[in-house]
Amino acid sequence: MSKAEQVRDRISGAYGAAVTKSSGASCCGDLAKVTAADIGYTDDQLGALPEDVLGSSFGCGNPLAFSQVAEGETVLDLGSGAGLDLLVAAKKVGPSGHVIGVDMTDAMIEKARATITAVGLANVEVRKGVIEELPVEDASVDWVISNCVINLSMDKDAVFAEIYRVLKPGGRVQVSDIVMETGALPEWIGDHPEILEDLHNACIAGAVSETDYVSGLSAAGMVDVQVSERLIYDRSQIAGFVDLEDLPVNIPAPSTGDILSADRFTELIEALTGKVWSGKFKARKPANN
Ligand SMILES: C[S@@+](CC[C@H](N)C(=O)[O-])C[C@H]1O[C@@H](n2cnc3c(N)ncnc32)[C@H](O)[C@@H]1O
Repeated sequence: MSKAEQVRDRISGAYGAAVTKSSGASCCGDLAKVTAADIGYTDDQLGALPEDVLGSSFGCGNPLAFSQVAEGETVLDLGSGAGLDLLVAAKKVGPSGHVIGVDMTDAMIEKARATITAVGLANVEVRKGVIEELPVEDASVDWVISNCVINLSMDKDAVFAEIYRVLKPGGRVQVSDIVMETGALPEWIGDHPEILEDLHNACIAGAVSETDYVSGLSAAGMVDVQVSERLIYDRSQIAGFVDLEDLPVNIPAPSTGDILSADRFTELIEALTGKVWSGKFKARKPANN
């Protein structure tokens, strides 16, 4: 198994456990412990959705807010999870449109499919796959959306290239995601791979800077790249995630044998405060490609 596959396995395990509530595994939802309304969903979007879907959302924004998705269009959601954005997209495209979710975690896919069946939507499907190699045809979708997923990928350039490949000429991408200032993580974290893994599952350690995110989309061929709707996580939000109960305090670091003290976690919270945020990234595939 390659390193990337091992990482995807670990992330899939964490999200599978989180959605079935069998463990307190760290995930984006811990960081973004805000209500769906806080991250931009309107009452109109949420009102008609099953309660269960709202409770299984691990997003950090509303990729469809202020989008011009129109009836009859095709929307692809990368890392669709339990399906909240699939349902919101289905309403926008209507019965003549088509919504495709792609996710790698069986428990997420099962949950999303069960909801789609329960709500009775015929125009939404979920495919199992990875976002670095999408099970989607070239130039076949009008919109790519994603909510708090690309930060988790070890190969963001492959994801950006796939977004470009599957979009129709003139198609648009609109994703909510977490970014982090370069160098924000303290160096000592490198001696604690288990903490790094938790921070990665939690959408922090895999996050790149906003500048790198924008250049990645541009390098893939996307144009009109814009960032908006930034939500900077404050101390209490970061602290809510860096929860001592969940993290291995008083366990020796495998490489140095150092015992990690609770003070180190306070340092970690300080180091990350103001340096991690979610944003909305929008871009377009040129019409002549
Ligand atoms: C933070 S959750 C977000 C789920 C959903 N977008 C939401 O807003 O609730 C991340 C999701 O992305 C999926 N995921 C993470 N990395 C992936 C990858 N490389 N390929 C496919 N799915 C991935 C996980 O299985 C999980 O369902």
